Amino acid sequence: MTITKQRHLAPRIYEMTLTGDLVQEMDKSGQFLHIRVPRADMLLRRPISINAIDKKAGTCRIIYRTEGAGTRIFAELQAEDRLDVLGPLGNGFDLTGIQAGEQVYIIGGGIGIPPLYELSRRILALGAVPIHFLGFANSEVMYYTEEFKALGDCRFATDDGSFGLHGNVGNLLLNALAEADYQKNPPAAVFACGNNGLLKTVDQLFSDHPNAQISLESRMACGVGACYACVCHVADDETGQKSVKVCDQGPIFPVGKVVI
Ligand SMILES: Cc1cc2nc3c(=O)[nH]c(=O)nc-3n(C[C@H](O)[C@H](O)[C@H](O)COP(=O)(O)OP(=O)(O)OC[C@H]3O[C@@H](n4cnc5c(N)ncnc54)[C@H](O)[C@@H]3O)c2cc1C
Ligand code: FES
Repeated sequence: MTITKQRHLAPRIYEMTLTGDLVQEMDKSGQFLHIRVPRADMLLRRPISINAIDKKAGTCRIIYRTEGAGTRIFAELQAEDRLDVLGPLGNGFDLTGIQAGEQVYIIGGGIGIPPLYELSRRILALGAVPIHFLGFANSEVMYYTEEFKALGDCRFATDDGSFGLHGNVGNLLLNALAEADYQKNPPAAVFACGNNGLLKTVDQLFSDHPNAQISLESRMACGVGACYACVCHVADDETGQKSVKVCDQGPIFPVGKVVI
């Protein structure tokens, strides 16, 4: 794919727009791209979620945070540079059964938020009502706030209280669950992506929910189900032997399915 734009969104956080034939194969939210770092000594690709898809324009976007050598190299790339991209990979969020007018909870934290943007656009396109619960470390590292506000109700939390609720996404959710509206009108579906602490909270709070899905992160090598680098244990397995591969059976699983 060819980079058409790089945008610095917040400290260490970048948005990259890519164009290529691959965009026409991107049909779901929650899938990821496995991107080769353009340096000969870096053999492992880096998995990055698809943030937005525009088939008409033939472009897609990713948002990434620089963590190590690979993502730091991504941040140095410019428009016209080319990237070796494998994808779209993974199962993606399952939107089956979501009806117009139904409320849907979209829950994200930090660098888990990017795939939720395309998800929320698709929920909206179904006529359903996305309600966003988004958490960040502090106001300085917030991004895409206006983009999410344009899609629907947003509730924000920051760890240091510099914006929104002082606390984490779990606190935001507990407040929402205590509201009278939750009892009368619970969400038809719940989707979450973020760190393991956030996912555990969602896994517990919505353990009885019939349609709650969480997106897991795991270290990956092949990205296509061949190497078993990304396995994760299945919950309620007495033998402790059963596992799933996050790359091709996930990254999205129903709550209660895997050990986080
Ligand atoms: C399905 C999936 C979707 C992701 N989506 C995003 C996203 O949208 N935006 C974003 O910023 N990050 C995302 N990540 C995390 C991202 O893959 C890592 O931050 C990135 O691989 C780090 O590479 P690096 O070279 O900078 O770091 P290094 O630490 O130098 O990487 C060394 C090796 O470890 C792997 N690795 C390091 N951290 C992680 C991690 N957290 N998860 C998986 N592999 C890791 C790298 O891929 C590489 O193979 C996602 C991870 C997964 C599994
Ligand atoms: S990364 Fe190879 S099987 Fe998942």
